[in-house]
Amino acid sequence: MLNIVLFGPPGAGKGTQSKKLIEKYNLTYVATGDLLRQEITEGTALGMEARNLIEKGRLVPDDMILQIIEKHINANADTNGILFDGFPRTYVQAYILEGLLMRMHTSLTCLLSLEVPREELIARMLKRAKMENRNDDTLEVIEYRLLEYETKTIPVIEFYKERNIYFPIDGVGTVDEIFERLCQVIDNSLTKQWMNVVLLGPPGAGKGTQGEIIAKRHALGYISTGTLLRKEIKEGTEIGQRAKPYMEKGEIVPDEIAVKLIERELHLESKVRGFIFKGFPRTIVQTYILDGILKKINSSVTVAIELKVPTLECFKRLTMRAKTDKACSYDKDPELIIHHLEEYKQKSILVKKYYKNQNKLVKVDGTGDVAEVSDRISEVIDKVARMSR
Ligand code: AP5
Ligand code: MG
Repeated sequence: MLNIVLFGPPGAGKGTQSKKLIEKYNLTYVATGDLLRQEITEGTALGMEARNLIEKGRLVPDDMILQIIEKHINANADTNGILFDGFPRTYVQAYILEGLLMRMHTSLTCLLSLEVPREELIARMLKRAKMENRNDDTLEVIEYRLLEYETKTIPVIEFYKERNIYFPIDGVGTVDEIFERLCQVIDNSLTKQWMNVVLLGPPGAGKGTQGEIIAKRHALGYISTGTLLRKEIKEGTEIGQRAKPYMEKGEIVPDEIAVKLIERELHLESKVRGFIFKGFPRTIVQTYILDGILKKINSSVTVAIELKVPTLECFKRLTMRAKTDKACSYDKDPELIIHHLEEYKQKSILVKKYYKNQNKLVKVDGTGDVAEVSDRISEVIDKVARMSR
């Protein structure tokens, strides 16, 4: 989920930007000020109580805010994410938000704080007063609201600074300019949240079979360098022609070819929230390369899953595959199969060590039927996703 707090003093443009953000990112909108005004219009008991305070520019009590937010979030349980406008406004409310999101098994992605000088805030709200009929838009009340912001709301920033998700944004400029600034930070936070899975395992372990299933199931992009290379060769592209001699001998193609293909795929798939990498990285050098490629788009490898299948079983599976239309060039020759299996064993030692040192390596039993193995892999991905949210 993409959960955002749009923060800032009264008149900073939170309501204005929120309208654009909820549309672009398809978010549920929770604006405590609007919800309170709605309660007042409907004349509910809560509304009556809030009215006195709002008219004076004072904050309403935290428990009242909890009540209206819970009511609203429960009504929108199935959502892509939530945009909070005007909440949290006190340090206590920051804890309330943590609790609410935790109960939904999610957490806050970022807090975007619109920064606008005081004189401009006052000018904007006085101008708004002429168009909208908000009875807290008089100079006296505006000044009290700003005071409440400085004393009670600013301390909230510390809460999120400590969690590294506080982003100050220049709130002066045209509405579109400011919207651009906000989107840039949000898009960056999104790629950081990506789930990037490296699938490791010897030839015949089922990486291709599982990679495709798992990518679909978890809505991830699927990048199999082998598949991409075979496609290039079939289409006779320049990359294909360069890669062909290596592939035919069962050798690893030069790194720059694979890098080009991966970079291209990462840009093609813009709607996914991460990728499954199959067949890359194969060497320690490629492991560094993948880190570099992902770093460039502000992301990283989330988990490396190694499918464990006994060598003899792999040998059997590849010999069987030779008889199908999925056969690879090396499947038909037992010597090439053995060469491939040995090469994996040697080259993967450092790759696995690299991920193990970062606590990212997870071993999964790759024996049993296809569905069983998929379930095991999914379980790992779900667990990692829960931990990184
Ligand atoms: P609330 O409704 O949240 O008001 P606020 O925080 O005071 O913020 P505003 O709605 O006034 O400003 P905004 O940032 O949304 O700016 P806008 O986009 O309209 O809260 C009201 C009251 O409810 C509080 O005082 C409190 O009593 C209570 N309350 C609410 N939440 C609470 C909570 N969590 N805890 C306790 N109490 C709570 O923009 C302002 C104007 O500027 C507009 O006219 C707009 O057109 C214009 N504008 C926007 N962008 C630009 C730009 N870039 N350049 C020029 N003009 C611009
Ligand atoms: Mg507002």
